[in-house]
Amino acid sequence: MKDLAKEIGSIKRLFAQALDTAKTPHELEKIRINFLGRQGSIASLIAQLKNLSVEEKRTVGPLLNELKTFAQQAYEKKEQKLKHANIKQKQLQQKHFDVTTSKYNELRGTQHIYTQVIEELENIFISMGYDIADGPEVETDYYNFGAVNIPADHPARDAHDTFWIEQNNMLLRTHTSSIQARIMEKKKPPIAVFSPGRVYRSEATDASHDFLFTQAECLLIDKNISISHLLATARTFLQAIFEKKDLQIRVRPGFFPFVEPGLEIDGSCPFCTDGCSVCKHTTWIELLGSGLVHPNVLKSGGIDPDIYSGFAFGLGIERIAMIKYGINDIRLFHSSKISFLDQF
Ligand code: DAH
Repeated sequence: MKDLAKEIGSIKRLFAQALDTAKTPHELEKIRINFLGRQGSIASLIAQLKNLSVEEKRTVGPLLNELKTFAQQAYEKKEQKLKHANIKQKQLQQKHFDVTTSKYNELRGTQHIYTQVIEELENIFISMGYDIADGPEVETDYYNFGAVNIPADHPARDAHDTFWIEQNNMLLRTHTSSIQARIMEKKKPPIAVFSPGRVYRSEATDASHDFLFTQAECLLIDKNISISHLLATARTFLQAIFEKKDLQIRVRPGFFPFVEPGLEIDGSCPFCTDGCSVCKHTTWIELLGSGLVHPNVLKSGGIDPDIYSGFAFGLGIERIAMIKYGINDIRLFHSSKISFLDQF
């Protein structure tokens, strides 16, 4: 019995010591398990109680009870203390948190206006069942000119102020019509492709001309394709890109070597009905060069013009964007001016 009383005393001391040194909730939990747990040292003392006589129980019982209450209370006190210390530490860490400080990297980038307009156009043509095609910007004389019915001595070449590359018969493509024969060589009709991309012209620049700009070519080839397909497609896409359901088109004769007949397509001004600065007070805006694909072009692409026909049109992407967003200088597009790019 003496032993048990002694043991109670030493466990009390050990417990108090352990509690004193505990610094983390994890350490505290270990102490709880070791001393107060179901298999802890206090429980094992209580288990020994049953071996004692009634007499002995009378002395040891209260000692054990006292140990139990002491341990429980001391444990709870320490638990609270640690909790407080923890909160204090967190507060200390947050003490220097400045709610007025400016956010890191507040400037967020956006897609370039080129990318936005090209994606918008691509989505319109994809919704009409077209594929998107790409072609090289460094092109051969053949694909840029010969294959689209502009042979070596053709005067139309002069209108394309070409950047020639020293390498034999290579150039920077002057229009995206250069894609036509490349597509026809790869695909058999029905062909429906939309092909946006950069083009280059060795020209003096001004607010509406640049040596580098972007075009897109639309090409559709199948059996029995006529001008009505061309007009319906042009009108549908212009209504979609200018978000104007009642946009009308009108056609004028035009000459382009790769189409016969050739047409210039104008759209009714998206902004007015009686003349404004965008349409130069005419209510019409020149938008597309177009026509039915010339038989010579079909032949260059290995397609029999007696069986198939097609239409093609070309558009200037900057021109569309300039009208749509009221941009007054084409050179802004690749100026890298943040004040310009920021607006889109
Ligand atoms: N390639 C012409 C240009 O750069 C635009 C064009 C006109 C494309 C008529 C066509 C077309 O497909 O049919 O000015």
